Amino acid sequence: MDGALHCRRASVPEGPIDIAVLASGSGTNLQAMIDNPAVRPHISLVLSDRSGALALDRAGAAGIPSQVVAWSDHADRDSFSVAVADNVEASGAKGVILAGFMRVLAPSFLDRFPDRVLNIHPSLLPAFPGAHAVEQALAHGVKVTGVTVHFVDEQVDHGPIVLQEAVAVQPGDDWDSLEARVHEVEHRLFPAAVRALAEGRIRTDGRVVRVFEEAPA
Ligand code: GRF
Repeated sequence: MDGALHCRRASVPEGPIDIAVLASGSGTNLQAMIDNPAVRPHISLVLSDRSGALALDRAGAAGIPSQVVAWSDHADRDSFSVAVADNVEASGAKGVILAGFMRVLAPSFLDRFPDRVLNIHPSLLPAFPGAHAVEQALAHGVKVTGVTVHFVDEQVDHGPIVLQEAVAVQPGDDWDSLEARVHEVEHRLFPAAVRALAEGRIRTDGRVVRVFEEAPA
């Protein structure tokens, strides 16, 4: 798969779709989607690579089907990614939301959901990609960091940007205080982007993404 190829063409209009949410951890972003009445009906599956993920409990409490696909049950990234994609498709989902999912999926996964995999990252990309964005923002001394929701392509934290919002770094901030404010923004921004994807209100043209108020005809 070449995610960039998918993103270079203008995407075609599409109707409402269901989505699967993939999460490895506490799932506060999943909870924000569950709590959003316009997003919740679109969630057909919550899938985790970790059987102990709190995200699975959140799915259960909301009555959403959940599934564990353990990394250790698979020989390599490709077979793990095929298993995840098979479960997503079986749920009826046509979009995939990475909400703190700590595994990198194989390019073949993106081929199966072209222009329909969203990720959230706790910085203003392209600054501070990778697993330690909040620490790196503090260490670098930036005055403004933020949150990015983007389409996933074959490079980590790289695909076309759907929504971004800035978070000011305050004097005296530490990881806990800054991360808490970043999370607050995430919980507003991510459901808005997921809702737009599910309602068919996003169009891409190369790296440029437009989010419409209503689905274009
Ligand atoms: C979020 O900070 C997100 O930006 C990053 O993983 C974290 C997930 O948090 N990709 P939660 O599990 O949703 O609380």
